Amino acid sequence: MSLTAIIGGTGLTQLDNLQLTHKEMMNTPFGDTSGPLSFGKIGNQDVVFLARHGGHHTIPPHRVNYRANLWALKEAGVSRVIAVAAVGGITREMSPERIVIPDQIIDYTHSRAQTFFEDDLDFVTHIDFTHPYDQGLRQVLLDSAAELSLDAFDGGVYAATQGPRLESAAEVNRLERDGCDLIGMTGMPEAALARELELRYACCALVVNWAAGRAGQEEISIAEMEKCLHSGMQKVRNLLELTLPAIQLARAT
Ligand code: HPA
Repeated sequence: MSLTAIIGGTGLTQLDNLQLTHKEMMNTPFGDTSGPLSFGKIGNQDVVFLARHGGHHTIPPHRVNYRANLWALKEAGVSRVIAVAAVGGITREMSPERIVIPDQIIDYTHSRAQTFFEDDLDFVTHIDFTHPYDQGLRQVLLDSAAELSLDAFDGGVYAATQGPRLESAAEVNRLERDGCDLIGMTGMPEAALARELELRYACCALVVNWAAGRAGQEEISIAEMEKCLHSGMQKVRNLLELTLPAIQLARAT
């Protein structure tokens, strides 16, 4: 069996269009997942859904047990992961409410358990991470977005920051000098752990605010972010509904 998982981020704690069959709490050698895995179908495609921040959105980005989450998905028979994430936009194309399918990532997180390969090793293991996101899965997302006329952006460098606070304007300037286009707090170590487990992994990011200092001197309004999240996530839901059956047909995935 080859399952697709959706890891829902802020604003996507459940999938309304999932025909739920059952929920299951999984035990892992790394502790508890963010919550139960929800098994079901979208269209004809078997899907597993996991809310990254917990069902009630109580787990902050630096406290998410990324290892347990990815391990449990692998154990459940998952081979592909679509990671949904709310992000801030740095560069001009990354405007609020835009969907972005990034193709690169830079890790600015720290103090997070970032590998499965550290204890009781037979040999030291390195993974290739040249292309952190799976191109086949990215393309299915982009094709489905085009079909829905969603104007999703193809590419972009995701800056994974530690959080939970947002950035200073100077930090955002530095991230832009580094080549980053968007900022989120959960992209790492999730993407690398998925690669360690040989899961195909792509990110479907929704821009919910201009990053600090990118909308003049204005402070970031959490209320505005929430508004954006609300309207934008409906687009993400529609995209997932079309993408999941398309994955079945796409040979590359
Ligand atoms: N910075 C970091 N993470 C985020 C942001 C941001 O501006 N918006 C949503 N997640």
